[in-house]
Amino acid sequence: MSMELRTITSEDFAAVGELIYDSTNAWYVASGRPPIFTGPKESTQLFCRVYDQIDSGNCILAVSESGELAGSCFYHPRSTHVSLGIMNVHPNFFGQGIARKLLKHITDLADEQQLPVRLVSSAVNLDSFSLYNRAGFVPRMVFQDMLIDIPETGIDDPSVSQAGVREATAVDAANMAKLELELAGIERENDLRYFINNDSGIWHVTVSEDAAGQLNGFLVSVYDPGSNMIGPGVAKDEETLIQLLLAEINQQRGRQPVCVMPAEATQAVNKMYHWGAKNCELHFAQVRGAWKEPRGLIVPSFMPETG
Ligand SMILES: CC(C)(COP(=O)(O)OP(=O)(O)OC[C@H]1O[C@@H](n2cnc3c(N)ncnc32)[C@H](O)[C@@H]1OP(=O)(O)O)[C@@H](O)C(=O)NCCC(=O)NCCS
Repeated sequence: MSMELRTITSEDFAAVGELIYDSTNAWYVASGRPPIFTGPKESTQLFCRVYDQIDSGNCILAVSESGELAGSCFYHPRSTHVSLGIMNVHPNFFGQGIARKLLKHITDLADEQQLPVRLVSSAVNLDSFSLYNRAGFVPRMVFQDMLIDIPETGIDDPSVSQAGVREATAVDAANMAKLELELAGIERENDLRYFINNDSGIWHVTVSEDAAGQLNGFLVSVYDPGSNMIGPGVAKDEETLIQLLLAEINQQRGRQPVCVMPAEATQAVNKMYHWGAKNCELHFAQVRGAWKEPRGLIVPSFMPETG
């Protein structure tokens, strides 16, 4: 079946939101698990709005001859790489090569600019793992998605120092970007500025700095009916990551956010268990093209994507 590929416009937001909701939930239900999106159907339009606010037009759509929206994929070109965000095909169109076409559109853009493509994909979803793996993506890092039920009173852990931990302000954005480049090898100052500015009121950003005022890490969280996550962030070491986690957890009192934890951060993962977190999924960071071992700990997010 022939498919037109075209760029998203604001008139597509409702249909794309519905596609994300139906496609992702269909996969979870078919895998014997409860649906992942449980808010109202409009809630997943959040993906369209966030990408539009950061840098509009970064979503490619597949539309059938009869005008049906068959697939969508968000992406984000940055100076160091191209990131691939949530990819969805409508269940009526599964297995017809639509995701492969959308993916090729994005990898062609990256190839023109000689940039690697990075994404975070579920390690338990063989449909998406295979799609990316066959297109040249290599799994590089393992993450465990930890769901944490935060009491209304928050979590008090006197063993975790909050010295040097504070809310980020606009002047931190450049140093946060520098730190992320140093630790994770990616640059995206624009996104970091967007989180700190928080025009939509759904973001919160904490930084941790040493006694000399040098940043050791930062961590973002988001709360909206379409997404409740702790991340993205980076940290120089486990102690910093634990400090940042506790600070952001206490911004999300009474909620149940998910945090995509780097599996090698065993002390931080154990702290999360101690605070009551449970594993709910596994993810791989996958990279097509150049990749360097990170020099710190990375907490990715799905919206906007990092990893
Ligand atoms: C994952 C998803 C996007 C795939 O879409 P799709 O249009 O059905 O995928 P395609 O038809 O393009 O197939 C992808 C490729 O993976 C291959 N593939 C699928 N399962 C495979 C397996 N177990 N082993 C090897 N290859 C496999 C297919 O053969 C195809 O390769 P080919 O075209 O070279 O033969 C779709 O299932 C979906 O939207 N799922 C729900 C949401 C989701 O999981 N999104 C991804 C996470 S962000």
